[in-house]
Amino acid sequence: MNREKILVIDFGGQYNQLVARRVRECNVYCEIYSYKTDLEQIREMKPKGIILTGGPNSCYEEGAAACKRELFELGIPVLGLCYGAQLMMHMLGGHVCKAPVREYGKIEVTVDQNSKLFESVSKKTICWMSHNDYIEAAAPGFEIIAHTPDCPVAAAQWVERQLYAIQFHPEVLHTTEGTKMLSNFVYEICGCVGDWRMDAFVENSIRSIRERVGGGRVLCALSGGVDSSVAAVMLAKAVGNQLTCVFVDHGLLRKNEGDEVEEVFGPNGSYKLNFIRVNAQERFYEKLKGVEEPEQKRKIIGEEFIRVFEEEAKKIGAVDFLVQGTIYPDVVESGLGGESAVIKSHHNVGGLPDYVNFKEIIEPLRDLFKDEVRKAGLELGIPKKLVYRQPFPGPGLGIRIVGEVTAAKVRMVQEADAIYREEIAKVGLDKSIGQYFAALTNMRSVGVMGDERTYDYAVVLRAVNTIDFMTAETAEIPFAVLARVMNRVINEVKGVNRVLYDLTSKPPGTIEFE
Ligand code: XMP
Repeated sequence: MNREKILVIDFGGQYNQLVARRVRECNVYCEIYSYKTDLEQIREMKPKGIILTGGPNSCYEEGAAACKRELFELGIPVLGLCYGAQLMMHMLGGHVCKAPVREYGKIEVTVDQNSKLFESVSKKTICWMSHNDYIEAAAPGFEIIAHTPDCPVAAAQWVERQLYAIQFHPEVLHTTEGTKMLSNFVYEICGCVGDWRMDAFVENSIRSIRERVGGGRVLCALSGGVDSSVAAVMLAKAVGNQLTCVFVDHGLLRKNEGDEVEEVFGPNGSYKLNFIRVNAQERFYEKLKGVEEPEQKRKIIGEEFIRVFEEEAKKIGAVDFLVQGTIYPDVVESGLGGESAVIKSHHNVGGLPDYVNFKEIIEPLRDLFKDEVRKAGLELGIPKKLVYRQPFPGPGLGIRIVGEVTAAKVRMVQEADAIYREEIAKVGLDKSIGQYFAALTNMRSVGVMGDERTYDYAVVLRAVNTIDFMTAETAEIPFAVLARVMNRVINEVKGVNRVLYDLTSKPPGTIEFE
């Protein structure tokens, strides 16, 4: 499709997906490519603008990540951010070196010059800095448009050549007017019209899926998670009862989740699709008996899931299309997009499952970030409760029960988690915390209930804030809320006599316990 596009050229910095998301929030479509991408390929994509991201290198060092000099001569506006800004200056004849003072955190930047980039931005504005090197001298042709006490070139421009460089990170929300700056770049400098809108995306997707599928049969594995739900509804709207959804309840879902999925997608729900719920709880518990090692549990759950799905698919027979809920970060992190390739075993990109008899794959959300998937979900009329569901791992509670999984332990963690979520929602924190849940430790300890000695399990509460789930900070939950959860869990969940709060950030911890 021929929509206007901004390219984000990735030099391996940690905020790169954020850059693309911010641009898309300005209603301009944006894709991430590695700095190694061929110049010809970039030219052929006809981007309206290019953004060079931050990165971990020093641009003046041997072998540092770099682009071709010709990138700056394509006649396409280029905005360099942090490392991208330094690289632009270094390659075009400026001077970049180790900064005498390392800037990190929120710093006040003074805007010195009129610039389209800073239109409607305050003269003094708080920006997020994170750099060891700095631009000591801008390249010939550039004028300095902003500075800080320790950074003589916080921003520079070469208007005729449409080149812009900023040392700080406009994509990070700590840069209070960052979105305005990115919006200025895409609209005032690149001349975008802003045609990336979720209503149009949804409408176009439904139309093109309908054309592609024709009279074919479609199969979708529904997990109850946001991605597969949105993908399923999109398909249902496009092809109605040519779609069959198989929902495998592995008994490791949150409390009532299986029924909630059935309510929405099942025979009494509002979509005319063929819905098959497989209640495979016992099968999974049986397979997990005596297994303690986390990776082994993951493997067993994953394999058993495939077996169950395969059996159902066999009953259905050959289909023409298989739907997958792949989203854009999966594509980027699988090394197909940007530079910061982190391949996770649970990302199912590129590899086609061979256990279902199908001809083609449909990935209707492949271009979307998570927040866009949610917006698409709302456009499609999916209940808010489902659309705003927090991330939930494929192996489910199997990796939130430390040690062996049993039906009794699943019940404990489900109950405790439901209480925790209810209390968090009551104080409105559910909208701001990245991910939060209860897990069950394999620790049993002595307690006292009434006059009785107990010897029961400890539940641990977890809550983190995170931008990309690669790193995470522990969320600060008011003590009174934690105390209330503790009280309710101890009173209401049989088999639990202690509640702990996990303070560990990631790294060194992970978000999940296994
Ligand atoms: P960790 O625990 O690695 O979690 O810090 C990062 C994010 O990934 C999710 N996660 C998983 N998701 N299968 C999944 O589908 C898994 O095996 C898995 N392990 C972790 C986790 O919930 C968090 O959002």
